[in-house]
Amino acid sequence: MNSLIRVVGLHKSYYDGLTELPVLKGIDLEVQRAEMLAIVGASGVGKSTLLHLIGALDRPTSGKVYYEEQDAFAFSDRELDRFRNQEIGFVFQFHHLLPEFTALENVAMGALIARQQVDVAYDRARELLDYVGLAERLEHRPYELSGGERQRVAIARALVNSPKVVLADELTGNLDRKTSEAVHDLLWDLNDRLGQTFIIVTHNQPLAQRADRLIHLVDGRVSDQVHVLDF
Ligand SMILES: Nc1ncnc2c1ncn2[C@@H]1O[C@H](COP(=O)(O)OP(=O)(O)OP(=O)(O)O)[C@@H](O)[C@H]1O
Ligand SMILES: [Mg+2]
Repeated sequence: MNSLIRVVGLHKSYYDGLTELPVLKGIDLEVQRAEMLAIVGASGVGKSTLLHLIGALDRPTSGKVYYEEQDAFAFSDRELDRFRNQEIGFVFQFHHLLPEFTALENVAMGALIARQQVDVAYDRARELLDYVGLAERLEHRPYELSGGERQRVAIARALVNSPKVVLADELTGNLDRKTSEAVHDLLWDLNDRLGQTFIIVTHNQPLAQRADRLIHLVDGRVSDQVHVLDF
């Protein structure tokens, strides 16, 4: 079996006082190692909620997420912080880079938090920034970078600890079409060359259709039918 992530019977409801808002109503899903999986669905259907649960940023109402055989919600909070830092890379629509630090420092930080030696962390950060085409921008702070460059830094940051999976939520939602395509090409290159597993949430149809597999969320569940015009 090459399965990396297994989502079993995942339910998530939000509560407003006593009123329950059921969002995810039983998601079952397996993600294979080195897979590029796209999740699509109408706005508000629960794509980000699902990605947050897979990334163990939030806890489900019921159900499980396994990484290989490890139950992600069985960790203590401290173990979970460590697990997330080392095994899961996140890239969001808003880059969340720290404004007062350079590109190099932003990328190296994740490795330093994972207790890598300083020179090893910085070498790795330099290597990744070179890989994403920013070797000439190491000392730039986020406000000195273009939107596409910031997302490239965010991708490099997500990769710094060689995570099992990178979770990307609308990472090019704020970028123009050309820049967005260049950032996507980078993801595919990382997937091809490094075998990096990705789960991407997107409203971009051509992008979603390039993925190895595309799943469609409808009314809190995975739909078998792909309604291409709907996302
Ligand atoms: N923290 C929260 N508390 C209460 N309700 C929430 C919370 N987060 C999300 N929701 C609700 O859950 C539903 C799913 O939200 P989610 O952000 O997962 O949707 P989405 O599919 O990512 O949408 P979009 O494509 O617009 O990003 C929405 O109806 C939203 O209002
Ligand atoms: Mg969302």
